[in-house]
Amino acid sequence: MKEKLAKSGEATPPLRGSQINIGIGEADRSAIAGGLSHLLADTYTLYLTTHNFHWNVTGPMFNTLHQMFMAQYTELWTAVDPIAERIRSLGHAAPGSYAQFGALASIQDAPATPPKALEMVRILVEGHEAVARTARGMFPLADQAGDEPTADLLTQRLTVHEQTAWMLRSLLEE
Ligand SMILES: [Fe+2]
Repeated sequence: MKEKLAKSGEATPPLRGSQINIGIGEADRSAIAGGLSHLLADTYTLYLTTHNFHWNVTGPMFNTLHQMFMAQYTELWTAVDPIAERIRSLGHAAPGSYAQFGALASIQDAPATPPKALEMVRILVEGHEAVARTARGMFPLADQAGDEPTADLLTQRLTVHEQTAWMLRSLLEE
């Protein structure tokens, strides 16, 4: 269908989701946006837990973990934006409230009482592994829909989560 050119001076009507024509059908865009919403909620929850542990870590490894957690929460904080904006590019609203994130996340909120340092590390290993599973689980969806930007984003996030899980896991070994 040919689109009418807007006459000079006429406001272009806002595009509705159904008018998006990027070569990915609405059903696929909706399913991918749904998957990305889970990834966004997981990433945000893991960000907050990591920042919490940066604040509350104690013990002989304080300096190492305080610094390491800062690098990790900074990376996670930076990562949420491209995930949310990919959801928007697919024509859907990005979730952005604690209630939505709580409902969508596959990982638990941080414990109310700060755990001991190595327990924090163990919780973060599990968190990074869980986010990796969320990203990997939706990869076939993006791949089959020919959604290369989402597949690329998922690949980048998988690389970070698997590498961070390895580094944290190494702290738990004798
Ligand atoms: Fe700080």
